[in-house]
Amino acid sequence: MTSERTLLMVKPDGVRRGLIGLVIARIEQKGLVISNMRMFRMDDAFARTFYAEHDGRDFFPVLLSFMTSGPVVALQIESPNAIALVRTTIGATRPEDRLPGTIRADFSTQLTENVVHASASSSDAERELVLVFGSSHATLGTEHE
Ligand code: CMP
Repeated sequence: MTSERTLLMVKPDGVRRGLIGLVIARIEQKGLVISNMRMFRMDDAFARTFYAEHDGRDFFPVLLSFMTSGPVVALQIESPNAIALVRTTIGATRPEDRLPGTIRADFSTQLTENVVHASASSSDAERELVLVFGSSHATLGTEHE
């Protein structure tokens, strides 16, 4: 199978709690390949664009406030079936649905402060990667080799 690209992001709670290394270790231990990385702080406009699909939901203001509360670490993951594999590795959105061994199950009981985000589909992945890394993301996949 050809490689897919996806975005995995350590959220502000994960950065504050010192979980960046742990998230990276889980990804690398599984055999997924990290092909780009960026630490930055979202401003309100960036967070609104990034999470535009949730605009209008009751949790949107809380989500914006949380996502702009500190730096995030964004990772581009590039591997066969990366989108589904990374989603499985991070675990479900709802705390009660998270399977033990997933990042969210093991490190959060919270719905909003859930340590990590990962793209849900290939169209989401491409949109999110361009937002975070710009159009150059497409050429960075082989630089580490
Ligand atoms: P994430 O996968 O980054 O996508 C949207 C985020 O909104 C989600 O993780 C949670 O951090 C947050 N969130 C808060 N409440 C809800 C909710 N009811 N449904 C989905 N996401 C929520």
